[in-house]
Amino acid sequence: MPAIEITALHKSFGSLEVLRGIDLTVAAGEVVCVIGPSGSGKSTLLRCVNLLEEPTSGSIRVAGIEVTDPDCDIDAVRRGVGMVFQQFNLFGHLTVRENVTIAQRRVLKRSRAEADRIAAENLDRVGLADKASSYPAQLSGGQQQRVAIARSLAMEPQLMLFDEPTSALDPELVGEVLAVMRGLVADGMTMLVVTHEMAFAREVASRVVFMDDGVIVEQGPPAEVFGKPREERTREFLHRVLEPARVSETEIGAHLTDGTA
Ligand SMILES: Nc1ncnc2c1ncn2[C@@H]1O[C@H](COP(=O)(O)OP(=O)(O)O)[C@@H](O)[C@H]1O
Ligand SMILES: [Mg+2]
Repeated sequence: MPAIEITALHKSFGSLEVLRGIDLTVAAGEVVCVIGPSGSGKSTLLRCVNLLEEPTSGSIRVAGIEVTDPDCDIDAVRRGVGMVFQQFNLFGHLTVRENVTIAQRRVLKRSRAEADRIAAENLDRVGLADKASSYPAQLSGGQQQRVAIARSLAMEPQLMLFDEPTSALDPELVGEVLAVMRGLVADGMTMLVVTHEMAFAREVASRVVFMDDGVIVEQGPPAEVFGKPREERTREFLHRVLEPARVSETEIGAHLTDGTA
């Protein structure tokens, strides 16, 4: 049974159609990286998977359960799906330990002792065993994001969704978060990851999905999508993100020579 099975998914905000017929299956144990330009619908797609956005039409199954079915116990589905966002959304007035235990205690009804034990395990997993008593403001962005990952892992999800988890970080802090994510890949976690980190996607993805303008333009093994993309739109996007300096110089150069600069 696939971890996620999305069929003919459409999502509109008013008259704006943001997802225009998405079909995507993620097998258990797969790491699928979604790339594509800003505004192409990547976050909306991820948010539809655990119904943070309600699809306009189409079907989404998570571990075989139809989440768009009005009778579905969406809270039960969400408990099995970890989500990590660009913004870490930690509680500033709670310690790291409390941030990692609060949902365990409230949602999973774990005892304080058990929740503390599982928090300690997962803080260790993200390399922050020594920060349990710190407050978020005392941590770097990379450390805060690792706490957010530990918080998700403490719920023992079957599946993790990541929406640009390193985009809000200073460049020198990106690596530590990617290292934690590599660890999850090595542990066999099923992951759907929206990312701009092309080298990371190339290295860890079982499959890369390129989205543009609300559709999946192409998908395949990373070596194919990055190495020999079939679609012009994919080539153009990769060219822009992989060589931004050169592309912008070329564009500025064109402006200079046609006198519009
Ligand atoms: N809640 C919302 N209300 C209205 N428009 C939205 C909402 N969320 C996203 N959009 C619009 O949907 C489009 C796709 O957004 P998003 O899924 O965030 O793209 P991406 O993550 O690829 O940058 C954008 O045009 C965005 O402005
Ligand atoms: Mg987004």
